[in-house]
Amino acid sequence: MNRPDWLKDAVFYEIYPSSFYDGNGDGIGDLNGIRQKLPYVKELGCNALWLNPCFDSPFKDGGYDVRDYKKVAPRYGTNEDLYALFREAHELGIRVLLDLVPGHTSEEHPWFLESGKAERNAYSDRYVWTDFWIKGTPGHPYIGGETPRNGTYMLNFFKCQPALNYGWAKVTEPWQTPADAPAARATRDAMADVMRFWLEKGCDGFRVDMANSLIKGDDDDKSYTCALWKGLLGELRAEFPESAYVAEWGWPRQALCSADFDMDFYLDHPGNGYNRLVRSADAYLKGNDPLPFVRDYLDRYGISRDKGYISFITGNHDTPRISWYLTEEQLKVGYALLFTLPGVPFLYYGDEIGMRYLSTLPTKEGGYTRTGSRTPMQWAPGKNLGFSSGEPDSLYLPVDRAPDAPTAEEQARDPNSLLNTVKAILRLRHRFPDLQADGSFEILHARKDDPLLVYKRGTLTLALNPSDKAVKTELTGTPLFQIGTYDKGILGPFSFIVS
Ligand code: GLC
Ligand code: CA
Repeated sequence: MNRPDWLKDAVFYEIYPSSFYDGNGDGIGDLNGIRQKLPYVKELGCNALWLNPCFDSPFKDGGYDVRDYKKVAPRYGTNEDLYALFREAHELGIRVLLDLVPGHTSEEHPWFLESGKAERNAYSDRYVWTDFWIKGTPGHPYIGGETPRNGTYMLNFFKCQPALNYGWAKVTEPWQTPADAPAARATRDAMADVMRFWLEKGCDGFRVDMANSLIKGDDDDKSYTCALWKGLLGELRAEFPESAYVAEWGWPRQALCSADFDMDFYLDHPGNGYNRLVRSADAYLKGNDPLPFVRDYLDRYGISRDKGYISFITGNHDTPRISWYLTEEQLKVGYALLFTLPGVPFLYYGDEIGMRYLSTLPTKEGGYTRTGSRTPMQWAPGKNLGFSSGEPDSLYLPVDRAPDAPTAEEQARDPNSLLNTVKAILRLRHRFPDLQADGSFEILHARKDDPLLVYKRGTLTLALNPSDKAVKTELTGTPLFQIGTYDKGILGPFSFIVS
C-alpha cells in the first residue's frame, strides 16, 4: 500500500490545546505546555499527535472558526513556539498533525470581510453567496442582513462559520459557480497554500475537518469532493512525500478509495460498527455479542485494506468520553481491542487514565454537550490537578473536582492502573509488526449471544472477553500477553490474551 511508512507503527494522541498543560500559569493550556509534556506522550507509547485547531480565532467554536490560518492563536503562544514543538517532537520520534478547517472560516476572517463588501473584489466568490438579500441557499442554512453585499451567505456549521466556495457539483442557479470555475479553484489553491505553509515549517500533515462536504449541490456520491481531495493531496505529496492526512469522513470507500486520504476515522455514528462496539446500549464492550460490530467493521475493512487505514478512536473532542460508557475493567480490554486492530488508532488525551465526562458543565466556546470532554488534563493530585499554576477560578475550564478524579501521576505508580495497561498494550503493538496497521486480520470466533471474540493478526491469536462471566475457548499454550485471568482455555471476566 502506497502510504507513508511511518503510519505502519503510528499511534496518535489527540490534544485539545486549551486543556492539556498550561505552561505559563494563565489558566489555559498552550503550546509550550505541550512541549513540556512530550516525554509523557512518548512514554505512553504514542508517536504522533493531532492538535485541534491552534490558530487565531474568536473561539466561538473552539477554534474551528479560523480567523487567520497562518497564525498561532496568541493564547497558545507564537508561530515560533509551534515550530519549536515540531522540532522537539521530531527529536523524540513524534510526528505532528495540525487540524485543517477547509470548509469554512470565522466570520471575522479578512477574506470574509472582503467578500461581504458591496463592490466586487478578489474575494467576492471566496464564499457561497446568493444574488439577492432575501434569497436563501435552498436546503442549507444561510444568513442575511449582516453585510453591505446584496445577497445572503451559506453557513457550514454555526452562524459564525460561513461556507467557503469550492463550487457546485450541478449548477442550477445563476449565483452558483461550477466546481471547475476559477473562483472554486482559487479557494482550493488558497487552502493548498495554507497546508504548504505549515508543512514547510515542519508539520507532518493534517486532520481534515468535515472533509466530505466541500462541494455543494448535487454531490451525493461525493465524486466532486473526492476528486478535489485526490488532486490536492497528490500535489502536496509530491512536495512532502512523508506527509499524512486523516479525514473526518467516516466512510472509507469515499475517504480512502476515492479521495485518497491515508486514514479515515471510524466516527461514532448511530448504529455503525464503532457505535455498536463502544457506545450503544448493546455495545460489544459492555459484554454483549460482537456480531453487530464485526459485520460493519469487516465490510469497511474489506473495502479499505489495500487502500488506506481505518482509524479507531477512544473518543474525541466532539463525543462524551469513553469512560461515560464503560467501566475501568471494560476499558482495559476495550483498549486492548482498539489498539490491536488493523489501521492507525487515535487516543484522546486523558482517556488513558479514564478521565470522566463532566456532563453538567455549562457550555464553553461553542462546546455545548462536548464541553464535558474538554476539561483540563489531570496530571497529579493537588492544585488544579497539576494542569496549571494559576488560580483555580482563572482556569479555562474547571478540573474534575471529584475526590477520586484519576491522575497520571498516581496511575503511573500503580502497576494495574489503566494508564499502565495502556502502556503495556502499546508496547506490545510496537513490538509486533503483526499487530500494527498493515498486519493481516481474520476473525476466528464471533457468535451470536457469545461475548468471546477471537481474531488473528499475522501469526498471533488474540482473544477477548468483555463480559462479567468466564468463557471457554479452544486456545492452548501460554499467552505472551494477558489482561485479567486465563487458565487452561478458560478466559475470565474482562480478560484478554495474545498467544
Ligand atoms: C468538526 C469538528 C467540530 C467542529 C465542526 C465544525 O466536526 O470536529 O469540533 O465544531 O467540525 O468545524
Ligand atoms: Ca497558558
